[in-house]
Amino acid sequence: MKPPRTVASDYAERRARIGARLPADAVLVLSGGVLHTRSNDTEHRFRPDSSFHYLTGLSAPESVLVIRGGASPSSALFVQEKDRAAEIWSGRRPGPEGAKQLTQVEDAYPISSLDSLLCDLLHGAREVHIPIHRDDALRERVLRASRAVARGDRSGAISPTRLVDADVIMGEERLLKDEAALASLRHAVALSALGHREAAAHLRPGSYEYEFEARLEYAFRRNGSTGPGYGSIVGAGDNANILHYVENSAEIQHGDLLLVDAGCEWEFFTGDITRCYPASGTFSPAQKAVYEVVLAANLAGVEASTVGGNINAIHTRCLDVLVDGMLELGLLSGSKDAVLEREEYKRFYMHRTSHWLGVDVHDVGTYSVDGTPRPLEVGHVLTVEPGLYIANDLDGVPDEFRGIGVRIEDDVWVTAQGPTVLSDAAPKTISDVEALVGSAL
Ligand code: GLY
Ligand code: MN
Ligand code: MN
Repeated sequence: MKPPRTVASDYAERRARIGARLPADAVLVLSGGVLHTRSNDTEHRFRPDSSFHYLTGLSAPESVLVIRGGASPSSALFVQEKDRAAEIWSGRRPGPEGAKQLTQVEDAYPISSLDSLLCDLLHGAREVHIPIHRDDALRERVLRASRAVARGDRSGAISPTRLVDADVIMGEERLLKDEAALASLRHAVALSALGHREAAAHLRPGSYEYEFEARLEYAFRRNGSTGPGYGSIVGAGDNANILHYVENSAEIQHGDLLLVDAGCEWEFFTGDITRCYPASGTFSPAQKAVYEVVLAANLAGVEASTVGGNINAIHTRCLDVLVDGMLELGLLSGSKDAVLEREEYKRFYMHRTSHWLGVDVHDVGTYSVDGTPRPLEVGHVLTVEPGLYIANDLDGVPDEFRGIGVRIEDDVWVTAQGPTVLSDAAPKTISDVEALVGSAL
């Protein structure tokens, strides 16, 4: 698998598109993110802000990007200065000159000059786009600079009067995958599928959930990924019924079905794949019965991921198949209409079916436009992830189904020719899954 590389001109093109989306009197300001404390005086590995990285390719804490809209949009980048002593302890910094070369921004400055230069950059702007639902520190900084510009009003200065959520414009931009984005995402999904295959090939009863996690993540890292795009979920038996189970600490028993929801990042785009593996190598009849229902729902949901369709319709389509299955399996009784009307299916299927996928696992981009579901377009990428969760302690459930949790999640690219399943290298038919499990032992 040849790894794709997004180059400086790709990032420059994205900034140019954002500049063109911005009104002429608008400025967009994004920060690159900060280091987060893990405990006491140690920190998590730095992960740049998704939109900042999408527009610069830089992974540098304490950076800020400013884009001015209009006929000839331009970008200014503020980064930490080179500092030999700090770099010996905490890693290399590009410095303003290096950042300019790496990103092709028009201007680059030391971050220490942000407050004063921000006043110049906001001068003449009416509208400032910042992420208003996060990053309080940036908002304060922008408001301080804006106030300083406003004080000059009497001498003719034009100062901002509107704060707009930058995630709206960034959501619209990031929803439609450009060529480089698609290449990164495809590679992230391909490596995610590879991790699934390698770990499942070593699965055996008596191993531990964390061993599976370690094999997955070894495959991710060994192939150059920065690592998982979210906490890997590896849940055996009843643990599969905890939707965000990340302890991954239990021993996998003979007869357990192992639910694995894991994906890795490439250039900070992430895959998001869920598969279920029978530890012993074969599905029990009850596991098979549940799995077949979810697989049918997954296939129906993928088929519905077409231009002009929408995420609500995909959910409804999957629900239709799942509810038929729940009635057939005897998990629910009564009429289908009543089950749907009273939402009784939520005992066994309590989440939605799809979300946008991109730099974030639950990516930016609104799900409705003017109150109606957003129609799918060529270039959208979404997940289709129906499931059935039959927790051990649920009342009134046939015994053979207790403790079975199944989700089958694919990453789907909407094209003019129909849905393309990016995650199809991760086996999902019963026979393919059975052939894979334990095949490396
Ligand atoms: N892995 C998170 C999700 O499937 O939405
Ligand atoms: Mn998902
Ligand atoms: Mn997932």
